Amino acid sequence: MSKVVINGHTFKIKIGASEINKAVGDVARQINSQLKDKKPLFLAVLNGSFMFAADLMKKIKIDCEISFVKVASYEGTSSTGKMKQLIGLNEDIKGRTVVIVEDIVDTGTTIENVWEQLKELGASEIKVATLLFKPEAYTKTVPIEYAAIVVPNDFLVGYGLDYNGLGRNLEDIYVLDYVEEKK
Ligand code: IMP
Ligand code: MG
Repeated sequence: MSKVVINGHTFKIKIGASEINKAVGDVARQINSQLKDKKPLFLAVLNGSFMFAADLMKKIKIDCEISFVKVASYEGTSSTGKMKQLIGLNEDIKGRTVVIVEDIVDTGTTIENVWEQLKELGASEIKVATLLFKPEAYTKTVPIEYAAIVVPNDFLVGYGLDYNGLGRNLEDIYVLDYVEEKK
């Protein structure tokens, strides 16, 4: 499918399934060699990362575990206002190598928050593996060690990423088609 319509908006294909597969393979190869003796715990951040996490894990050949977390926003009482809480983490991560698995790193607010909470819980080493990375939008300093595909600052949908809840099931990644929108 070269175009899809989601919530009345036309999106055109940007990154095809085979390119995604190749990029995921490149990340897996790096992790397989760099974290070989670390028995890492992969921590996939739901919902967006489910498809990337599944495809990545099939290509990971070293001893490892995987678990899933959610990041819930709530109004904090501190001066920072909005807080984000990590929920669903049952593993003891003290002293462990943890690989955060994300669908996309945009401003970096989410990843920085998860990173800090894992540090606080005693992880000895934290890596970030993200399918997509938008460096132009990134405002944080957490190193994005494994970025499968670097993308410009466009809104994307598909392969786990949603637009108002829709489009996560698409096997390719799509971008808003401005030409169609202006017609
Ligand atoms: P950040 O905290 O600004 O880095 O944003 C991260 C989250 O925003 C991701 O986990 C996504 O849920 C969402 N997001 C950011 N950019 C996009 C996009 O282009 N399409 C769909 N969701 C996005
Ligand atoms: Mg996400």
